[in-house]
Amino acid sequence: MADDDIVIRVRGLKNSFGEQVVHEGLDLDVRRGEIMGVVGGSGTGKSVLMRSIIGLQVPDEGEITVFGEPTIDLEENEAVEIRKRWGVLFQGGALFSTLTVAENVEVPIKEFYPGLNPALLDEIASYKVVMTGLPADAGPKYPAELSGGMRKRAGLARALALDPELLFLDEPTAGLDPIGAAAFDELTLSLQRTMGLTVFLITHDLDSLYAICDRVAVLADKKVIAVGTIDELIALDHPWIEEYFKGPRGRAAVATQEAGTGKAGAD
Ligand SMILES: Nc1ncnc2c1ncn2[C@@H]1O[C@H](COP(=O)(O)OP(=O)(O)OP(=O)(O)O)[C@@H](O)[C@H]1O
Ligand SMILES: [Mg+2]
Repeated sequence: MADDDIVIRVRGLKNSFGEQVVHEGLDLDVRRGEIMGVVGGSGTGKSVLMRSIIGLQVPDEGEITVFGEPTIDLEENEAVEIRKRWGVLFQGGALFSTLTVAENVEVPIKEFYPGLNPALLDEIASYKVVMTGLPADAGPKYPAELSGGMRKRAGLARALALDPELLFLDEPTAGLDPIGAAAFDELTLSLQRTMGLTVFLITHDLDSLYAICDRVAVLADKKVIAVGTIDELIALDHPWIEEYFKGPRGRAAVATQEAGTGKAGAD
């Protein structure tokens, strides 16, 4: 596959905290325009992997390129240029609680484009708020005044503030009820389709994996042990993968999809 088609390339990644080695010899390619699901047991290093890719965690070893540019040890001006091209919804999705939703969305815009005309800033923020399915009157509200699902959408609006090409989502549907999670999945899928986004989606939600991921990467034993469509992964005959996708929760997710009431179709 041409290098242009690989948006994220990770080779030989090693991360450790003191004695604890979290990643060793981890490789991963994420293709342009795909939704790549990332799964693995709790503590296997999914969030650390994402932090490494976006340059917040400096690895012990390895190479990481995003859009063909290395993200490790960048000069500040290079880091700013590349950070403009991606949006991130961190696990927990923390919004600034003392800022309104619109002000939260404006944070990255102000950071990268200081001095932008306030009227234009307002307009961009309102547009992003509506784009994520929030009512227009959510803009002036504070995070504490929103439901959990609305807060996730507000976090997504902030991640989309700069019209990124690449979106990182760390457990975006955790804590949402099934209907809210389904609606969020549908939103992710429609944004990916309309904006041509590449999405790096960490999730424990099997319904999300089935409904919206093009491929799934499985983290175990400090590395990505397999990447493929869910059908390809199941065919691998790996005990953890088998248990994950074919256990009771996996079967329930398949049944949901087959019944045509898949989350991605719900509203
Ligand atoms: N800043 C840090 N300092 C020390 N240890 C850390 C740090 N960040 C992560 N770790 C450790 O690295 C391991 C992987 O953490 P990580 O947050 O990536 O897990 P995860 O796969 O995202 O888990 P979860 O599904 O629960 O979110 C954990 O054992 C964690 O305690
Ligand atoms: Mg995590």
